[in-house]
Amino acid sequence: MQRFFPFLLLLLIACGGQPAVDATNIEKEKFMPTIVEEKFGQTPEGLATLYTLLNEKGNTVKITNFGGIITSIVVDGIEVVIGFDDLKSYLEPNPYYGALIGRYGNRIANASFNIDGESYSLAANNGDNNLHGGIKGFDKHLWQAKTAVNDQSVSLTLSRLSPDGEEGFPGNLTVSCRYEWTNDNELKLTYQATTDKPTIVNLTNHTYFNLAGEGTILNHKLTIKADRFTPVNENMVPTGEEALVVGTPFDFREAKSVGQDIKKDNAQLAIPNGYDHNFVLNSYDGNLREFATVTAGGRTMRCFTTEPGVQLWTSNFKPGLFPGRDGSPLPVHGALCLETQHFPDAPNQPNFKTPLLRQGETYRTETVYRFE
Ligand code: GLA
Repeated sequence: MQRFFPFLLLLLIACGGQPAVDATNIEKEKFMPTIVEEKFGQTPEGLATLYTLLNEKGNTVKITNFGGIITSIVVDGIEVVIGFDDLKSYLEPNPYYGALIGRYGNRIANASFNIDGESYSLAANNGDNNLHGGIKGFDKHLWQAKTAVNDQSVSLTLSRLSPDGEEGFPGNLTVSCRYEWTNDNELKLTYQATTDKPTIVNLTNHTYFNLAGEGTILNHKLTIKADRFTPVNENMVPTGEEALVVGTPFDFREAKSVGQDIKKDNAQLAIPNGYDHNFVLNSYDGNLREFATVTAGGRTMRCFTTEPGVQLWTSNFKPGLFPGRDGSPLPVHGALCLETQHFPDAPNQPNFKTPLLRQGETYRTETVYRFE
């Protein structure tokens, strides 16, 4: 039979028939998962490195150990995050593009809080509030890096010691974030921390996604599994209430475009000119579960977390306030962030669970962004 196969094939083609090809047998080109390191530039704390994580599918995630910043995620040839290709741009003011945020993500009202009756004063960098760790948060430090490669994934682990009193936070905090990029296009972020004094920890990542690779995210379809969100006052500090999303622009329980209700006359949307709110994610028990889906440009990002909340931030800045990748101004709503977290200002809010960490305990959270 094998000997006659070419003749049969020719006969079939000559008769106008198509040889049956089983599409599942066509293997896509496979890449060798690797990590490439290159010099990224000089920071006040030393030389920064840029790590390119390549998976088997040929998709890449770039991370620098300056601020733990994810500078790029390219899936099927499309750049899906806002960032810069050079270190210098990250040393200029920018709105936390791709950065590792800590010691406390989002706001702490009046830059102060108490633990066990002891009060602590933090650096105020957002009016009277402390935002994203303060003046020099985790996003502006150089981290130690360690890489690893195995059959399923490539990973980079960044770690540092945040000294007692840094930006006002108590306790020497030994902190790390592992960025794992799997052959299934999952970016898994695993945060860990220990302390030598009671402290508060709320780590997140501030990546600006635009799955279309251009324009705004107003046509991105978004689902968030949250029945409630936490309304804010005029200083963007939660009022302490958990409001139902039903019947409001904050209802993302069924997929809808981000732009559908963003311009609606709504007192909460008016404060930050769009979405900049914490959603109370359903089914919180500390285990990893799916909490959001974003679809645009023919690709989908599914999001998973162990955290109770997520800040939906639709990059509401005036156009031109910050540059995009090629230096051109980032449009209003040019990207969206899904910052997984404990609730903003939790240490001052009796209704919210505070991510308190004591000696002998380990803080551990995980968030996964999966591209399909
Ligand atoms: C978070 C905050 C916003 C804004 C951005 C970065 O998402 O909630 O108010 O500060 O970070 O600029």
